[in-house]
Amino acid sequence: MDADAKKKAAARAALDYVEDGMTVGVGTGSTVNHFIAALKDRRHRIAGAVSSSEASTRLLAESGIEVKSLNDTGDLALYVDGADEATRHLALIKGGGGALTREKIVAAASRRFVCIVDDTKLVDVLGRFPLPVEVIPMARSLVARKLAGMGGQPVLRQGFRTDNGNEILDVHNLKITDPVALEEKIGLLVGVVEVGLFARRGADVLLVAGDGGVRKLTR
Ligand code: A5P
Repeated sequence: MDADAKKKAAARAALDYVEDGMTVGVGTGSTVNHFIAALKDRRHRIAGAVSSSEASTRLLAESGIEVKSLNDTGDLALYVDGADEATRHLALIKGGGGALTREKIVAAASRRFVCIVDDTKLVDVLGRFPLPVEVIPMARSLVARKLAGMGGQPVLRQGFRTDNGNEILDVHNLKITDPVALEEKIGLLVGVVEVGLFARRGADVLLVAGDGGVRKLTR
């Protein structure tokens, strides 16, 4: 099975968590795009969606799914999103697509976070995938120096602005043995909007698609 077929399998498995009448939190990325496609068939049975990016908002709207504001819905029962890396303890690196801040907001507002990945993303230690950090543009160099002081190699994502108008530093060469501590440490740097570590609030369910089918890992 190729990577895209695995993403599709994980996305379809997430449908088991969607209940009638729900407003579903929807993440961003190629795996989530498969989830949105699957959700389209259920569009008359759900109340709508809260989106984590302009890209997902467009796709949801094209699929006939009403996109609601998180300020109007209150807390959500379910959030479905992909990840760039995941551990067996359900800590994640996210933000490869640059949507980490809104993703973290929707995850924080959701009672259950179901993360959908293919098995190439499962790792023992996070950090092989460069860690995305969203920064206020005027603080880019300041934050980069601090991240270098933590042992990482920050690289500005060229020609990219987030949906919030900010920039992304992708931090290479981090071996993240304590993701909760690093999430807190980077999150406290002045000028950082969000860090793409999802460890304090990681996933509640991780659906990992491989050649043998979809495995479910829980906290
Ligand atoms: C978007 O900013 C990311 O957090 C995505 O969830 C992550 O990059 C996974 O994307 P794919 O599903 O495209 O691999």
